[in-house]
Formats: sequence, structure tokens, C-alpha cells
Amino acid sequence: MTDTSAQLDTLLAENRRFPPTPEFSAAANAQPGIYADGEHSQAFWADQARKLDWIQPWSSVLEWQEPHAKWFVGGKLNAAANCLDRHVAGGKGGRTALIWEGEPGDQRILTYRQLADEVGKAANALRGLGVSKGDRVAIYMPLIPEAAVAMLACARIGAVHSVVFGGFSAESLRDRINDAQAVALITADGGYRRGGVVPLKQFADEALADCPSIRSVLVVRRHADGESIGSAAMQQGRDHWWHEALAGQPAGADAEPMDSEDMLFILYTSGTTGKPKGIVHTTGGYLTQAAATTRYVFDLKDEDVFWCTADIGWVTGHSYVVYGPLAIGATVVMYEGAPDWPERDRFWSLIAKHGVTVFYTAPTAIRAFMKWGTDHPARHDLSRLRLLGSVGEPINPEAWMWYREHIGGKRCPIVDTWWQTETGGIMITPLPGITATKPGSCTIPFPGITPELVDNEGNVMQKGGGFLTLTQPWPGMLRTIYGDDERYRQTYWSRFPGRYFAGDGAKLDEDGYWWVLGRVDDVLNVAGHRIGTMEVESALVDHPAVAEAAVVGKAHELKGQALSAFVTLKDGREPSDQLKLELREHVAKKIGAIARPDDVIFSADLPKTRSGKIMRRLLKDIAEGRALGDTTTLADPKVVAALKDKYEELEG
Ligand code: WT7
Repeated sequence: MTDTSAQLDTLLAENRRFPPTPEFSAAANAQPGIYADGEHSQAFWADQARKLDWIQPWSSVLEWQEPHAKWFVGGKLNAAANCLDRHVAGGKGGRTALIWEGEPGDQRILTYRQLADEVGKAANALRGLGVSKGDRVAIYMPLIPEAAVAMLACARIGAVHSVVFGGFSAESLRDRINDAQAVALITADGGYRRGGVVPLKQFADEALADCPSIRSVLVVRRHADGESIGSAAMQQGRDHWWHEALAGQPAGADAEPMDSEDMLFILYTSGTTGKPKGIVHTTGGYLTQAAATTRYVFDLKDEDVFWCTADIGWVTGHSYVVYGPLAIGATVVMYEGAPDWPERDRFWSLIAKHGVTVFYTAPTAIRAFMKWGTDHPARHDLSRLRLLGSVGEPINPEAWMWYREHIGGKRCPIVDTWWQTETGGIMITPLPGITATKPGSCTIPFPGITPELVDNEGNVMQKGGGFLTLTQPWPGMLRTIYGDDERYRQTYWSRFPGRYFAGDGAKLDEDGYWWVLGRVDDVLNVAGHRIGTMEVESALVDHPAVAEAAVVGKAHELKGQALSAFVTLKDGREPSDQLKLELREHVAKKIGAIARPDDVIFSADLPKTRSGKIMRRLLKDIAEGRALGDTTTLADPKVVAALKDKYEELEG
């Protein structure tokens, strides 16, 4: 839910423009003619698809039967072969593919040839464990090179990976494994975060107690400075050390010829129900859009070093750490840990040390950097940076300006990219050599993409505030929700008939620029992470003391939104600070630390409309301190009743 009118007013006042410099424009991968090409969407995407290696050409570019799209029908390709083999075969085997740094400071650099060899060995190891085409493989790992190797090894043998973010709990992992009926899990003994070790294998074991589909587990031993952090208990017959399973495997492994529409991966994301959705992406269209957007939005050239700070547990990590950049033969940086470890300048020290030229991060991080002060970036040589990107949530104009000045030295264009797990790749974005940017706007659609703004009744609007929809299929679009096509239709294609509805409110200005305002459904965006209020509510009512719970988002300076939980207790249970702590930890344990509510407010009653719908707007006003000063008074049922009456009057 967004405070649309207030946000619109602020944004309308934004009239700064930043056109690209002539030098940037002249050298850019995307030249102005690209927009005219994009008007013939199928021809444009077919041109982009032709830049990949196909084992067998497609017979038709698109078959569209709403809401199901098939791209490059009849074509065959392999995603891993496109990301690795063709670069090695083309003489780029010695080029750096991956520059990795662990949180403790350990480093590894892998060339395309080395990465291809590792992927080949891992592919053979997976085949040796009986994993074959179409099988689902869960990946639950820290951000180490083996995470990318694991994804690409699955792609190589045609297994479908389902990466589960390493910050998720054992229960979240269990539910995702069971939904996908994964046959294997790839994990690590642990990973580093803020100086501590996250015991992933231990969490995985907890999850696996209730995952009958899993036959094998590969466990990477996470070393730092020659010391293993592993104390993983290995289960005979089921668990195998990654290094032992790969040892002695040949580096060559046949790449499975995949149909363009064969599944490449499933990635779970939150929605408006308690159960996360398994977003299904297929091979040809997804890879085409990931590669094309990387080439034109991030403008990568041979000499560039690209750092997208996302974890591979999110779609940004899939498309812009792994598939997009590797498909075009770029050099990527991967960093395991926190931005403030050991100091608040870690990112800037990494950029200076590894010569990063293109940097892509999230507004929540930028707001934290702002708060930490300009001294940290000022101490480091950021002069090789030439392009900056932002993703995950609306970027407020002040943060945009700070990013431009203190990180980009006023010379780097900023690409604010709007897209979603469901879209697979970037959809609305500046092209850095062409588009004049406005702070806070993700500007205009990528060529071949045609978003439309509609009002509440689904009428198309040329400008003003409304809902972001798409009518034409795009190559990277989700194909369905795993195992639940009906939910796919319901969630995305039913609110506005004939349209994909992204769930976002947006504004279109007189220049045709998009300003995405945020979610209009019961999905929150906390520090760039999507969290469904229902999921958190389910986790709360799972606690024995809780009768009912309602979770709303409240504005937060750094995280964009934070979670406030309103909780009514069962008879006989008393509110206490201790119980608040316990409930917060309970949610963290059930879902993961990212879903831990900032506040727990005990309430004698939850305010509901006559039809029984929780009055979220009232709760949001309380959480943000507008409706009541001291929220502890909510424990008195009369207070809730009085507030409810007042609001019902206001809302008519
Ligand atoms: C939601 C998608 C796309 C990868 C990361 C998040 C919000 C994303 C922007 C942006 C304004 C944005 C939207 C969207 N969002 N990028 N540039 N400006 N809002 O992926 O978890 O699937 O979340 O993030 O609300 O619907 P996700």
C-alpha cells in the first residue's frame, strides 16, 4: 500500500534532467536506432536471440495464447554452453569470468576456461548422483563461486535449479524443496556474515528431516585462509563433500540440448497468500532477455569489470551476476559478505581494489551509505567507475543525487531499472548512452517492451497515476507458477482482463517517463526484499500464544518499509516485552531474519470492517504514529472500537 498522493506531489516537483555526455553516447553499445528496432518487437527479440548459440534454430519466434507464451519455438540451446563453452571456443578462455572475494578477505579469480572446467566436473558429479534432465535441484549456499558453478552445472545437464537464499530459515528451505520435489540439494557447511559463520548445513539438515524427495546432498567446504569452517555432520549415503565428488571427474561434460521452452529454473517469491510462489523461467527467452539487457543497459565492453551486489538467492543475482553477464562474456565481481564488514567502506575498497567500472546495487544500500557518511567512499579511488545502476525499489531523488555525486563523481550515468522476479529481466530503464535521466524515475521501456498504465477500471492512461500493466508477452516472462497454473492466471491475469498486472502503482509524466511508486497489494518491500504480509501473519499465529495477527508496512528511513505486527493473544496469555522478543524471533526462525518484524504491538482486538476485512490503513497510521501516540493503549478494547468508528466515518 502506498501513500500515492503525497509521493506524486514530491515527484511532480522533480525537474532535474541528466542527459548522457557525448563521449558516453558515442561509445555506447546501444545507439538511438535501437528504439525504432524495438517497435518490431518480435524481430527485435529474434535479433537478440541470434546473438546466442543455438544447437537447432527455432521455427517460430512467438506463440502467444494468453496467458501462455512460447518463445523461439522449436529452437534448442544450452544455457551453460552459452555462458561458457562458446567463449572458450571463441578464444576468450583466458579472460576473467569471476573475481570473487569472501568476507574474511580470501580471494579467487576464475577464467572462463577454469569456470567451464569446474562446471563440467560438477555436471558430471551431479550425473553420477543420478540427477538428470528435468529433475529439480535446490541450491542453498553462501555467495561463493561454487554457487554460480552449481547453477551452471544444473543448466548444463538440464536439471532445474531452485536457489533458496542463504538467509532463509530451515522451514522456508523445507517448504521450497517440497513444493518443487527437488531430488538433490547443493549447500555448504557455512558462509560468513558480519564476522560470524552461518551454519547452512545445520539448517539444511533441519529442513531435510522432512523432505522425502531429496536423495543426495552435495556440501561445499567453505575454506578461509586454508582453514575449513566445516563441522557439518555428513549423513552416510545421502551427503557427499563437493570436493570429493568433483575430484577425478573429467572437465568435459556433454551439454544437454534443451528446448527453448524447457525449464531453466524455479525461483520462489512472496505473494499475497501465506505460500510463496515458484516462479518458472524457461531457457531461450530468459537467456535472450538477460543477455540483451546486460549488453545494452550495463553497456559492458571487454575491459569492464561489472559488480552487481545482489545475492544469487534473488532474481537479480540470477540475471545479472550469472546468466546475463556470463552469456555476453563479461567479467563479474562477487562478494560474499556485508557492506559494513569489517568497516563501512568495504564496498568502496572492493571497487578500488578490483577496478570495478560498472556497479549495480539497491536503494536501501545507498540510503545506508548516505547515513554512514561521505568519508567512506572519499577514502577510496572510485575513478574507474563509469556507470551506476539501481534496482529493487523506488529510489528517492535525494539518494539518487547522493549516488551520482559521491559514488559516480558526477560523471557516471545512473540506470534505475524496474523489473521483477516474474519478468526475468529488466523492463523499464534508461539506456545509458541515449536516455536523459530524471532522479527517481526508471524512465522509459526497454526496446521491445510495452508497458501500459491503466486506471482502476483498466482504461489505458497516457499520463497520471495508475497501475503498471503489460499486454504483450516478453521473452523473459514467467511461464507459470510451478504446479499451480490456476494461481498464475489468478495472480497476474485476472485483475485487469487481457493484461499482466505487476502489482505496482506507477505514474507516467508528460514525457512518457515512468515513476514506479511501489506495491499496491499486500506485499511489502523491506530493504529491497519482497515479503508477503500473509506469510508473516501465518508465522505469528503459529506461535502458541497468538490468536490473531495483522502485519503492515511502515515507512522506514533505511529499509524503505519495515514490518509492524499487530497481535491479539489467546485468553490467559499476557503481553510482555519478553513475549515481543519471542514473537520476533519466532518469525525469524520460521521465515528468515529479513521477515523479523521491527515492532510487535499487542492489541485487544484487531480493527475490522463490517465484512471482516482488517483495516490495514488504520493499522498503518497507528504504526507510523499518526492515529495514536502511545500504541500500548491498544490493549484496551475500547480504544480499538473508538478508532474503528472514527475511521469508518472518515472512509464513508
Ligand atoms: C518489485 C519486484 C527486480 C529485481 C529485484 C526485486 C520493486 C524493483 C524497482 C525500481 C521501483 C522497483 C517493484 C517490483 N522494484 N525495481 N527500479 N523502481 N520499484 O525483485 O523481489 O521480484 O520485486 O520490486 O515493486 O514489483 P522482486
